[in-house]
Amino acid sequence: MYNLFISQAEPVDSLVDRFTILIMITLMITFENVTKVYQKDWVALQDISFFIEKGEFVFINGPTGAGKSTLLKLIYKEEEPTKGTVKVMDQNLRFLKKKQIPHLRRKIGVIFQDFKLLQDRTLEENVAFALEVTDTSPRDIRKKLMDILTYLRLSHKKFSFPYQLSGGEQQKVAIARALVRDPYILLADEPTGNLDEKSSQEIIDVLLDINYKGTTVLMATHNLKLVQKVNKKVLIIENNKIATEA
Ligand SMILES: Nc1ncnc2c1ncn2[C@@H]1O[C@H](COP(=O)(O)OP(=O)(O)OP(=O)(O)O)[C@@H](O)[C@H]1O
Ligand SMILES: [Mg+2]
Repeated sequence: MYNLFISQAEPVDSLVDRFTILIMITLMITFENVTKVYQKDWVALQDISFFIEKGEFVFINGPTGAGKSTLLKLIYKEEEPTKGTVKVMDQNLRFLKKKQIPHLRRKIGVIFQDFKLLQDRTLEENVAFALEVTDTSPRDIRKKLMDILTYLRLSHKKFSFPYQLSGGEQQKVAIARALVRDPYILLADEPTGNLDEKSSQEIIDVLLDINYKGTTVLMATHNLKLVQKVNKKVLIIENNKIATEA
């Protein structure tokens, strides 16, 4: 454990080192002049810079096609920036080798815009699947599943298949699957996209609670009304750029 307290007689170099360590601990995500151009010269994001600190809850807001999903994909290295630097927990993703990507993704839970649930597996199996690729013991898997399904009030549906669940329930399964690996960062892409107001509020409350317990949360949404209801930081993307940071 680093001692971050500064004594009076400390040399400047050592102070700089400590400052760097402090920055490493607090900065979770950094974008430095990031541009993303898809094929055929289609600019999705242009010269975007921002940082997100440990424990923050940040909305990424903007109209359809603004580049919200693209921004999230750059964080879990599903897409590469055309220019600029993306850092996650002080690691420049450009230098991350292919075999290191699973390690990055263990730190990040992703709730996809289209859920991406396995249709031929039950609710419980969908969540357990996220743990199968880790070295969690069967006993710990059972315990984690029980905890997360109880927390999200899904236990009574654990043997149901995705087609037997409502949109809100499927969204919660997607949340359970992202959370079961205890990520440092949770990326939620339009998690309330197809839900009514009551179910949307329930999902937001879960995300706020997860954030309260210490996870850094980024939520992409085009729903400005919902953003205005919750008093959290907002990055608004317009014309491929960050228009406002509030
Ligand atoms: N793989 C791709 N190849 C080419 N263009 C893409 C690709 N993915 C996204 N785009 C384009 O980049 C732009 C940004 O897309 P993105 O999915 O990031 O928007 P979004 O803000 O998430 O939109 P929505 O609110 O509809 O989910 C869009 O114009 C889209 O058509
Ligand atoms: Mg999107």
